[in-house]
Amino acid sequence: MYTGFLHTHYLVVSLFLFIYVIKTVLLLSNKNELLEKFSAKIKVPEMIISFLFLLTGVYLMTQVTYGNKYDNLLWIKLVMVFVSIPLAIIGFKRFNKMLAALSLLLITGSFGLGEVYHKKKGIAKVDSSTMATLDGKALYEVNCASCHGGDGKLGMSGAKDLSVSALDTNGMKEIIIHGKGVMPAAQVNEAQAAAISEYVISQLKGH
Ligand code: HEC
Repeated sequence: MYTGFLHTHYLVVSLFLFIYVIKTVLLLSNKNELLEKFSAKIKVPEMIISFLFLLTGVYLMTQVTYGNKYDNLLWIKLVMVFVSIPLAIIGFKRFNKMLAALSLLLITGSFGLGEVYHKKKGIAKVDSSTMATLDGKALYEVNCASCHGGDGKLGMSGAKDLSVSALDTNGMKEIIIHGKGVMPAAQVNEAQAAAISEYVISQLKGH
């Protein structure tokens, strides 16, 4: 579900930017008549694309686990998108080059911010003392909670609800070590994988 939305979001954002760039280029090169023709032709697809853009974006925002120090990047990104839209509408309507260019700048900037956010957040806060322990809870928090949540129920990136998993310790250990589908293999040794499995089964399952 999540990955479906993410891919759709990237696709519609790319299409949206593509249309935007064409319009801005036409405006900046004084091809106003062509711009009007293009805008009229693209009107309906553009409306659908904009709608999907916002819909998938809002859904993705609801899927983020907040509390990360980079989270304000996401809010800045949102503000940039919402400021750029009226600027673009007015800019293209009045053939105002400044406004159109500013709007394009804002929207590409917000796209870049989103990328920075995901890169930064993707860098796991692995501290070596945690990585050396056999403390199942600590290992779980570092390696698993970003997708499965502290209680196992989060379901980020399409993750399964661990509180209802039917797997036994060995089955779970296998998945931790080798990964499954979009879930990456965890960088832990056998004993650590066993400790995590024990923790999940004894503490998260059935809660
Ligand atoms: C990047 C996100 C991500 C991380 C990190 C992650 N998982 Fe997963 N996990 C998933 C996804 C997605 C699935 C569903 C995979 C599938 O079925 O194709 C999954 C499935 C599972 C399953 C199978 C559940 C079932 O009943 O079928 C278990 C068990 C599991 N994860 C445990 C863990 C543990 C323990 C960790 C930490 C060592 C972990 N996961 C880290 C995303 C993640």
